[in-house]
Amino acid sequence: MNERLPDKKLLEVAQRTIDRIQFRGTYLNAEPIYRLLIRRFPENVHYRNNLTVSFLMANRADLADEVLKETLRLSPNDRVALAHHGFVLKTHYNKLEEAVNVLYKALEGDTGPAIEPRFYYHLGDALLLLSRFEEAHEVHKRGAALGHFLSPAQRSLYNVPRLKSQPWWPVKETPYTNLARALERSWRDILKEGEAAKALYEKEKEGLKERGEWSQLDLFARGAEIPGRCAQAPKTCAIVRSEAAAAGCRRGQVKFSLMAAGTHVRPHVGPTNCRLRMHLGLSNTKDTYIRVDKETRQWQTGKTFIFDDSFEHEVWHNGSGSRLVLIVDVWHPELTAAERRSLPAI
Ligand code: LMR
Ligand code: MN
Repeated sequence: MNERLPDKKLLEVAQRTIDRIQFRGTYLNAEPIYRLLIRRFPENVHYRNNLTVSFLMANRADLADEVLKETLRLSPNDRVALAHHGFVLKTHYNKLEEAVNVLYKALEGDTGPAIEPRFYYHLGDALLLLSRFEEAHEVHKRGAALGHFLSPAQRSLYNVPRLKSQPWWPVKETPYTNLARALERSWRDILKEGEAAKALYEKEKEGLKERGEWSQLDLFARGAEIPGRCAQAPKTCAIVRSEAAAAGCRRGQVKFSLMAAGTHVRPHVGPTNCRLRMHLGLSNTKDTYIRVDKETRQWQTGKTFIFDDSFEHEVWHNGSGSRLVLIVDVWHPELTAAERRSLPAI
């Protein structure tokens, strides 16, 4: 692009080039264009913020952070820069207190250009991670009042708004009674398969544990088998495949979840209201608890229950031995066949 183009022409060419880059998803290529725009229009913070977003899209929080520091040096109160800085501090550097402070500032008065759902989500979530529960609740109420959350307790960001919302679903009120019965009938075989594959489990890395150990083995993700996994758990997979709403749930997973005694998983929410989460208790379920919204229940070995993980939930293993459960996500029963085909996977 030619540095000598007049302003209007430069903007036109820049916009066309950036559109093409965004369409292709090659976000790093936008950097020289934004740098040029920043040189030409140094007062316009918009171009700096767009460069930040490009770096974040390219998964380069380090580069985004450099731009943000410069932007905030020049415009310390820019709400968009503050919000993105908070997001980077929380999600990439785990600096929760700092993240909270800048996100509060970005969202002050619930006005301005940064009052997006994800910033309320991350502010509330950072407060929960810091055990600042009352403040978190205030933020969740503010987010819900703005229509960013389905309710203060149901804070998934990828939603189909009309779907029935309740934290716990009696299995009989879902179309998944056959699946639940089949899993319960075969729980001993499923337990054996889950135990035999223990070498393959991966540690949970989302930072949700307050203490303890928690690992998982995915069998299906985004509506498809993880290649080779069902060879490790053929009976489990056969049952899952008998229910298309489970095997084909592109907004969920099927996985074994193993939790050491003494573990506490902090309050958190899943990403979407488009799935319900069935659990089958497999081992060491005594003195384990799961709270979903306001109601706490316990697993029972060989038994299923269903909850909606878009509601806030929290888990304790106060018993002994490692607790194993099988988690089977199923499409929310009210989604149409067309929606199940067309909703982007998560
Ligand atoms: C969760 O989804 O956070 C938990 O229910 C997972 C688990 O293993 O209990
Ligand atoms: Mn969860």
